[in-house]
Amino acid sequence: MADGTHDPTYTVPSMTAENGARVADILQDRLNSLTDLHLTLKHVHWNVVGPHFIAVHEMLDPQVDAVRLMADDVAERIATLGGVPQGTPGALVAHRTWEDYHLGRATTIEHLGALDEVYQGVIAAHRQAAETTAELDDVTNDLLIGNLRELEQFHWFVRAHLETAGGELSTAGATSEIDAARQAREAERTG
Ligand SMILES: [Fe+2]
Repeated sequence: MADGTHDPTYTVPSMTAENGARVADILQDRLNSLTDLHLTLKHVHWNVVGPHFIAVHEMLDPQVDAVRLMADDVAERIATLGGVPQGTPGALVAHRTWEDYHLGRATTIEHLGALDEVYQGVIAAHRQAAETTAELDDVTNDLLIGNLRELEQFHWFVRAHLETAGGELSTAGATSEIDAARQAREAERTG
C-alpha cells in the first residue's frame, strides 16, 4: 500500500520478514522521538532568554545536528529492513505517545529544567527499544546503543546546569516539564 502500513516482503539476510517488521515498528517510534527531539531543541535554541543566553543557545545547535543525524540513521535502517520510514509531521503527531513541549519564551534555567524531563523520556524509551532489539537484531541494537552514548552525554550537559556541588539535581522528583522548569527556577532563586 502507498500509505506505508504494509509489512515488508523482504528484510536483511538471516532475519525473518516478521522480525524485520517488528524491528522496523520499534524503530519508527524511535524515529518519531528523535525527530521530535531535534525540532524541540531548535525551538529552545530560539526561545531561551536571560543570563547565560549565549552559552545555552550555542550549546544546543550541535545537539540539534547530532540528533538529526541519528534520525537519518534510524530512518535508513527502517528502509534497509524493508520497511517504510514515516517522516512527515502529520505522522509524527498522529503516532507519538507524548505531549508537545510546553515552554515558549522562558529563561535558560527553566528550559534546561524542562529539557532534563525531555531527555529522560527519550532515553528511557531508547533504552527499552535497545533491550527489545538485543534479541531480534544486533545491528539495530548497536545503532540504538550508539545513539544512547550521545543522548546520555547531551543529557549530562543539560543536567550539569541543574546540579549542586553536592551532586543533587534541582529537578529531582519532577514529573512534568512545567514542574521541572519551576523547580529549576526556584533553586536558582534560593541557591
Ligand atoms: Fe540559530
